[in-house]
Amino acid sequence: MDQSLNFAAVIKAAGIPEQGAIWADTWPDSQASFHLNGLYFFQPRWLEEALAKLKIPETIKEAFRKTHPFFTQHPALQRLAWHCCHLLYQTRFDPAALQTWPLLPESLGPDAAMFYAFVCLAGLPQIERLHRQRGIDPAITYDTLADFALWIEHYHQQFGVWGLSNISWVYGYLSDKLIKLGRLQYRPSVFPYDFHVYRRRRDPQVSMLAGDGMQFRPDGQFEGANQITAGADCWTSRWISTPTEIRGHLISPTGIAQPQIATLPTAEWDEVFVRQSPILEVHIPAAGPLTHEACVNSLRQAKFFFPIHYPEVSFCAFTCVSWLMDNQFDRYLPEASNILQFQRDFYLHPVPGASDAQTYERVFGRSYENIDEAPQTTSLQRTLVAHVKAGGRWHSGGGFIVHDSNGIYHN
Ligand SMILES: CC(C)(COP(=O)(O)OP(=O)(O)OC[C@H]1O[C@@H](n2cnc3c(N)ncnc32)[C@H](O)[C@@H]1OP(=O)(O)O)[C@@H](O)C(=O)NCCC(=O)NCCS
Repeated sequence: MDQSLNFAAVIKAAGIPEQGAIWADTWPDSQASFHLNGLYFFQPRWLEEALAKLKIPETIKEAFRKTHPFFTQHPALQRLAWHCCHLLYQTRFDPAALQTWPLLPESLGPDAAMFYAFVCLAGLPQIERLHRQRGIDPAITYDTLADFALWIEHYHQQFGVWGLSNISWVYGYLSDKLIKLGRLQYRPSVFPYDFHVYRRRRDPQVSMLAGDGMQFRPDGQFEGANQITAGADCWTSRWISTPTEIRGHLISPTGIAQPQIATLPTAEWDEVFVRQSPILEVHIPAAGPLTHEACVNSLRQAKFFFPIHYPEVSFCAFTCVSWLMDNQFDRYLPEASNILQFQRDFYLHPVPGASDAQTYERVFGRSYENIDEAPQTTSLQRTLVAHVKAGGRWHSGGGFIVHDSNGIYHN
């Protein structure tokens, strides 16, 4: 290898901080296969063909074209890009490692922020192949991938230059862990919370009970949510299962943990899912209005799509943890609100450690110490501000829709 481009030289030329040392061990492996002609994702023809496949705005395509020469003229960044692609697409890669990958320094100039956008685009042939093997319509593949344009736009809104930093999220669909079907995205996972969900045999009624030993405040949220503690006023949940009945604290479908004990006869109720049961996480890309019709269509599509294309994936429920699941919206948003209609399809539940961080991030773009400074352009922004000024706090929440072989059971 050209000694001027060994690991230390590349890291120095790219201005990468010490954090770059995480790549040192694997560097020889990737560089053994490095060849300039092998950098397909920096070749203009490949780039145009790839961009043509993705349904992404022309402005984002232009961002790729405009920043492309910067990378083709920077040998160190070419080697680094190859290294990242090698790890992501040619090794058994642990996605947790992505949290430690450094961003390129601003001193390289504004175009450098597109580095990870090229690295992600380079994953196109792999996901095309994986989806092809599963018999997935290429239109779904390209629609799923179009999400990364939203994150490039998000970066632009935040920093004023085109770039991509949320590589952990994008790698989710590049590695076939997440797929977009119509309006919503889905990720097979396991239910992480200690709740027990039951369905009555004679009708589709669903009930959620809290697991044993969890602490709740009188308002039905977890103790410590929004960093607020009720201290002596908080109560601890009990959950007991006998051969004839299950006793525990009901979580109301509006997401409030009830201090009184409820009893479900085992002869009438079946357990549907608990902590660690397989579920499909539902995610909502920032891709236009969240109309009820589009969401219902997407959920229906998912119900049939997964058994056909991911037969190894089973799921007992669709779940969503988000600022959109805040159960206080019911008091504030008009009936026609898409957010309210979306939320109402789910059985809501509190989540431990709930906070308003994501609400601020997604509605105002960032947090505000002084709420009077937050933008108030949309009715939602005005509603959020009014609630905070009245002494309220927003919080994230969870929601689920039961799914079994008979169908989808709303709350
Ligand atoms: C989810 C989302 C599509 C809902 O938007 P929507 O379909 O317009 O929702 P509603 O019909 O309930 O909107 C009602 C009002 O709130 C506004 N609004 C909705 N989401 C908003 C947001 N994220 N920021 C600011 N205002 C928003 C709408 O513009 C509308 O305002 P108006 O009455 O002044 O016209 C939108 O919030 C979004 O794109 N969010 C980003 C993605 C996201 O948060 N995903 C979840 C991550 S876990």
